[in-house]
Amino acid sequence: AALVEHTFIVSQMKLNHLCNDTLVTVVNGQLPGPAIEVTEGDSLVVHVVNKSPHGVTIHWHGVKQQLNCWADGAGMITQCPIQPNKNFTYRFDVAGQEGTLWWHAHVTSLRVTVHGALIIRPRSGPDSYPFPKPDKEIPIVIGEWWETDPFELDRRFANSDFADVPRSSTINGKLGDLNTCSGVTEDNYVLEVELGKTYLLRIVNAALHPQYYFKIAGHTFTVVAVDANYVKPYMTDTIVIAAGETVDVLVVAAAAPTGGRYYMVALGIMSLGPLTKTPVFISRGVMSYTANASGKGTSDDTGPIMVPEMPDYRDETMSFYFHGNLTSLRPVPVPGNIDERLLIAVDTGRLCRQGSVPSPPAYCMVTRMNNISFQLPTTTSLLQAYYKKDITMITSLRDFPSRPPPRIVFNRGYTSRGVSVWRVRYNTTVEVVLQGPPTPASYSNPMHLHGHDFFILAQGLGRYNAEKDVYAYNLVDPPVRNMALVPMYGWTVIRFVTTNPGVWFLHCHLAQHVSSGMAMAFVVENGPTTDTTLPPPPADYPSCDDPDDKVGY
Ligand code: C2O
Repeated sequence: AALVEHTFIVSQMKLNHLCNDTLVTVVNGQLPGPAIEVTEGDSLVVHVVNKSPHGVTIHWHGVKQQLNCWADGAGMITQCPIQPNKNFTYRFDVAGQEGTLWWHAHVTSLRVTVHGALIIRPRSGPDSYPFPKPDKEIPIVIGEWWETDPFELDRRFANSDFADVPRSSTINGKLGDLNTCSGVTEDNYVLEVELGKTYLLRIVNAALHPQYYFKIAGHTFTVVAVDANYVKPYMTDTIVIAAGETVDVLVVAAAAPTGGRYYMVALGIMSLGPLTKTPVFISRGVMSYTANASGKGTSDDTGPIMVPEMPDYRDETMSFYFHGNLTSLRPVPVPGNIDERLLIAVDTGRLCRQGSVPSPPAYCMVTRMNNISFQLPTTTSLLQAYYKKDITMITSLRDFPSRPPPRIVFNRGYTSRGVSVWRVRYNTTVEVVLQGPPTPASYSNPMHLHGHDFFILAQGLGRYNAEKDVYAYNLVDPPVRNMALVPMYGWTVIRFVTTNPGVWFLHCHLAQHVSSGMAMAFVVENGPTTDTTLPPPPADYPSCDDPDDKVGY
């Protein structure tokens, strides 16, 4: 195992797209940010130097951070933000996971431009992939181009102003040729391939908003991993990837004899239809064939480009099946005895009492879990408060209302706000039913748990029925993930063991939902021994007590 070291300089720069100069925050002057490549078992050391004018944290999305919650990088959950002109070094091991994860800022919506891929290769080299060895590996980061400042965006999301939309989606930072302004066409991301070669695309959805369809004209994919866990090879011509998810696919470049080029398209799914004037979020890239060793199969760069036929951007059916069809490559040890059952209702509610305002203004609407709209602490991070047994902080917390299924928890009335926390003992098997509202009122919700992978046992439409739906559980080879997509009008059941002491955020990965309260925090208590106890924080931990540091962003 090696030690892999990186320095991330966080700073602002101007990028010009669609006739506007926009000030964005980036890492090392790149968008997307640098891809980190490690071998399973390596130790990562990332020095974050904050040269931007606001606080920042970096979250290592999907990295388990065993006994190392201090490095999880969730703003105000596990640390106070790294203040302007300050540094913090994240140190952690990447063990027991292979495939693609990613990293992103975890304050406000800053991750819109502060993100990159995290690639984990097998210890015994690429010959030990459980699929045909690819000739080349390529990260594909799906993102979005916003002209609204992410801090402003967060304020609007927190006040339930969901009308903002990106100007475009992006593929590896490029807006693509469907976007033009004053006669200037945006660049396409270009993927150059050689006839007959196999490519491993490591696809990351770093976008703020919805799910995306991803297709390449004339080519099919074999899905081999999701969230850095191998899955049974799954053939499809359409990838469906929700915000926060990572999907590894093999593509064989076998189409060139026509001499053409092939568009790849990332199309945002908008189940509620267009929110405003922007009808769809779409970015196009181009797959182009270069001559192979025998000089064959070159794309004709002046000829027509094949366009993939995309699914309807309002239709989530394909997403339901795509996610439901994933199974682990091999049987996995699903724990049988459940210690704690939790039903978490995720929906939208009102902050104003019914009737207090004749027609409630938009700011009355928030997202929530079990009727509490989560608010981040403002004076110290939850982890620091728990570690130091900070009584004032802890008494201000709300107990997360843990209701076992099938208790109905949708409540049309008043929604409260608070820092809601659920305490759970070490080594507890928890089953969570994530229930979306059985009314056509929301998107599918991509839920993300920090610090643990979980098994997705089943998903369904309508309301979860404890008696009947257990028969649909996959207890043999369910996918192992850090993201669970709760289908629109439906539910998803996950199960995991609390093996990692610390404070772990569970939230919807749609930026507008995490900012408006669709979140809660698990506190996993220490186990009985020193090797099941969270060690003290690192020396340079951005403590919220430092008088120089203004807490918050
Ligand atoms: Cu990828 Cu809490 O986030």
